[in-house]
Amino acid sequence: MNHKQALKHNIFSVISQSAEELQLDCYAIGGFVRDYLLERSNAKDIDIVAVGSGIDLAQQVSKNLPNQPKVQIFKTYGTAMLRYDDIEIEFVGARKESYNEDSRNPIVENGNLEDDQNRRDFTINALALSLNSSNFGELLDPFNGLEDLDNGVIRTPLDPDITYSDDPLRMMRAIRFATQLNFKIEDNSLKAITANKDRIKIISKERIVTELHKIIESDQPSIGFKLLEKTGLLDYILPELIALKGIDEIEGQRHKDNFYHTLEVVDNIAKTTDNLWLRWAALLHDIGKAPTKKFHKKIGWTFHAHEFVGSKMVYKLFKRLKMPLNDKMKFVQKMVLMSSRPIVLATEVTDSAVRRLVFDAGDHVDDLMILCEADITTKNPKKFKKYHNNFKLVREKIVEVEERDRIRNFQPPVTGEEIMKTFNLQPSKEIGIIKEAIKEAILEGEIPNEHDAAFELMLKKGKALGLTIDD
Ligand code: CTP
Repeated sequence: MNHKQALKHNIFSVISQSAEELQLDCYAIGGFVRDYLLERSNAKDIDIVAVGSGIDLAQQVSKNLPNQPKVQIFKTYGTAMLRYDDIEIEFVGARKESYNEDSRNPIVENGNLEDDQNRRDFTINALALSLNSSNFGELLDPFNGLEDLDNGVIRTPLDPDITYSDDPLRMMRAIRFATQLNFKIEDNSLKAITANKDRIKIISKERIVTELHKIIESDQPSIGFKLLEKTGLLDYILPELIALKGIDEIEGQRHKDNFYHTLEVVDNIAKTTDNLWLRWAALLHDIGKAPTKKFHKKIGWTFHAHEFVGSKMVYKLFKRLKMPLNDKMKFVQKMVLMSSRPIVLATEVTDSAVRRLVFDAGDHVDDLMILCEADITTKNPKKFKKYHNNFKLVREKIVEVEERDRIRNFQPPVTGEEIMKTFNLQPSKEIGIIKEAIKEAILEGEIPNEHDAAFELMLKKGKALGLTIDD
């Protein structure tokens, strides 16, 4: 079968013509070909392999394009990149590669197309489409990648021990593709990942995290986390999750396996949100349970203050993985810290508790509700229904309380300045006491969130504190 239709964008004919001018062969390869055959849209990133110099080809292509885009050259890797029509096109010369033990940096030699396909990570990523005029659009598939695509199999072209040891990032990539595509990693490959797991240490944290993000962003992230756990990679990447594994039993009392519970929560949340950081929050919401776990003779298993401990652990975890310690991290911390709050509400929904929730969660109250709904993993249908109904009620109450009391981005109806002016005060602790009393009264529903009512309460509190009005 010919695949000319994959190459209908005019960039391919320009590349083809440029290669002919330089008298070299070239091919589209990798993710672009794979995703075309899978009917997944991915036309923004195209890899071109040239049997000759990839850099020369890129420069020739640029000359032949109307706007002659800038060619970015990466000399050390022998690659070049240009952008055209919103597409990023990367050019590389076909090569044979061998790697040394302690780094991912290969020793490169020129090679032919098959050498190049051989050194790639998976058969499904080694598929190439010819851009040469003699067989334009022909699929070159020496490792039966097409068959693996049809059967949903991740397999390496070479002995998997060599492929993974050469470039250990590929262990993460195998698991990432298995998760994104819902494919199976072939048995020998899976064994090789387990055998080579320690080599992941030579990979930068940033690259590991990129793959982790892609797993978390998949439809069913648990596929990836189960594989990371099974192969032992998770011990190195996220030991906090491994610590949640297992069920303890003392005097006939058991707690749930918080690792598998967490994976269920992540799969649940993946159905309702694409927000990567909210998905991270789901993944980490229970990490504080391992260090806080205790057994009490009278009450059984407890995880006292696990939300607080967990939110502190988020910082260390982000830092270790070299993830940015910015607003996103603070958001994850906040979600972990507040992750049990609405659950308390699920049993009894009072106005004041809802007001407090909205006050504390601020703009993130909707995200928090999404997290807490995903956290319902009970297998008891009655309880499942009851919790969901209660959360529905909480959501309704949030809207109601919001309309009435405008708590979400709470601004005190009486300002510190007004308090100072009224009682002729310098900055002092009394101002804080009065402000706190007003806030509490509003949250408890004792006064409405309005200036006059708050002013009146201020006068009362001031008097009780022995302050006098300055008139
Ligand atoms: N590749 C490889 N080993 C790696 C990374 C990449 O062999 N560690 C090869 C694969 O043939 C891959 C191609 O380089 O298809 C391009 O890599 P990249 O753009 O990183 O990934 P894609 O396969 O295009 O997939 P995605 O866009 O989903 O990341």
